Amino acid sequence: MEDRKEQKNVGRRGFLKTIAATSAMFALQPAVNKVKAANNLITDGDLLAVEQGDMQYRVLGTGKAAFKVSALGFGVMGMNYNRSQAPDRQKCIRIIHEAVERGVTLFDTAIIYGPLRNELLAGEALAPFKGKVNITTKFGHEVVDGKSTGRQDSSPKTIRRYCEESLRRLRIDSIPLFYQHRFDPKTPVEEVAATIGDLIKEGKVQHWGMCEVNADTIRKAHSIQPLTAIQSEYHLMHRLVEENDVLEVCRELGIGFVPYSPINRGFLGGSINEYTIFDPNNDNRQTLPRFQPDAIRANTRIVNVLQQFGHKYGMTSSQVALGWLMQKAPWIVPIPGTTKSSHLIENLHTLHFNVSPEEWNELEVAVTAIPVMGDRYNAEQQRQVGH
Ligand SMILES: NC(=O)c1ccc[n+]([C@@H]2O[C@H](COP(=O)([O-])OP(=O)(O)OC[C@H]3O[C@@H](n4cnc5c(N)ncnc54)[C@H](OP(=O)(O)O)[C@@H]3O)[C@@H](O)[C@H]2O)c1
Repeated sequence: MEDRKEQKNVGRRGFLKTIAATSAMFALQPAVNKVKAANNLITDGDLLAVEQGDMQYRVLGTGKAAFKVSALGFGVMGMNYNRSQAPDRQKCIRIIHEAVERGVTLFDTAIIYGPLRNELLAGEALAPFKGKVNITTKFGHEVVDGKSTGRQDSSPKTIRRYCEESLRRLRIDSIPLFYQHRFDPKTPVEEVAATIGDLIKEGKVQHWGMCEVNADTIRKAHSIQPLTAIQSEYHLMHRLVEENDVLEVCRELGIGFVPYSPINRGFLGGSINEYTIFDPNNDNRQTLPRFQPDAIRANTRIVNVLQQFGHKYGMTSSQVALGWLMQKAPWIVPIPGTTKSSHLIENLHTLHFNVSPEEWNELEVAVTAIPVMGDRYNAEQQRQVGH
C-alpha cells in the first residue's frame, strides 16, 4: 500500500508518479487469469476465479476514517432507477446476493434513487447480511412525499431526519458511509461536516463522504470531520478529477475515491449504439448530450479502442474501463452497476488481469487522441456540481 504520509506535499507531478507506482502494483496482483481466448465468452474457469474467498480489498480513507471494502463495489441504482432495465424485485435481490457471495462488501444507493425505492431494495436484499456488508447512501437532494423537488437541503435538521429514515429503509442501526450527494449553497460545508461529526459520535453514521465537490470544499470539510471518500464521475471519457486537483487532494489528505458511472453508464461496455432506445420513463441517459445519437456514433471510436486493447488480454471493454480506473491508485474503488449475473461476473473478473503500467499508458494515449463528443451533463445537472 502506498505510504501517503511520505508523499503529502508532492504536487500534480507527484500524483502522476504515484499513478506509475500504483500501476505497477496493480500489474502484480496474483494471477488467477483463466481466460482462454481474446473474446467476450465467460468460461467455467472464469466463474471459479470470482468465487467467494477470491476477493481483493482496498481501504478508503485513513486513520479513524479508514474503511476497508472489497476492491470493486456494486452500484444498486440502475436496478430500478434511470437505466431502463427493470427486472422484478426477486431477480434484483438474487443478483445482489450473488454479488455478496462473490465477495462484494460495498453496495451503493441514495435517497434520491427511485426516490426511496432503491434504498428499500438495497435494504431488503442485504438484510440477511447485516453487519457483514456495507450499504452506502446519500443525502442532499430534497425529497418530499417520495418525490424529488429538484432542490438541495443539507440543513442539519434535514440531514438528521434523512439519516433516521435511511436507517429504517436500509434496515440497519448505523450507516457505514453517508455521502452528501450534492453541495447545498444554503448550508455551509462546515455545518454539514459538524452535523455528520455529531451523528458519528452518536453511532448513527460510521464514515462520511461527498460527491462532485471541488478541492477547496474537500479541504474545508475534511478539517472539521475527516472524510473517508469522495464519489465523483471518473472514467476514460471523463477525467476532470485529474485536472481540478480533486484526486490530488484525496491523495494528499488520505481520502479514498469512489468513481461513479465507471463504465460511463454502460457506454464503455460496447452494447449501446445510436439506435439504442432508452426507456422514456426510467432512464436519464436520453437527457444527456453524450447519449444523443450523433455523440454515440462519434464516441464509439473510443469503445473500439478499448475493445482492441482488450483483445490482447482476453479482456472485454468493460474490464478495460474498470481495470484502468483501479490501476490509478490503490485507494480507488469503482462501483459499477448491473442487472445481470453475467455482467457481474465479467466486472469482478477485472481483478485478475495483468497489464503493465506501460500498456495502460498506451491505452490512455490512444483514448486521449480521440475527442469526446457531447457534455456529460445537461445545464441543470452541471449547475449542481463543482462547488
Ligand atoms: N454520486 C452520484 O452522483 C452518482 C451518479 C450516478 C451513479 N452513481 C452510482 O454509481 C453506480 C454506477 O453508475 P451507473 O449505473 O451510472 O453507471 P455504470 O456502472 O458505468 O454503468 C451501468 C450500466 O452499464 C451496464 N453494464 C454493466 N456491466 C456491463 C458489462 N460488463 N458490459 C456491458 N454493459 C454493462 C449496465 O447494464 P446491465 O444491467 O445490462 O448490465 C448498466 O446499464 C450507481 O449504481 C450509483 O450507485 C452515483
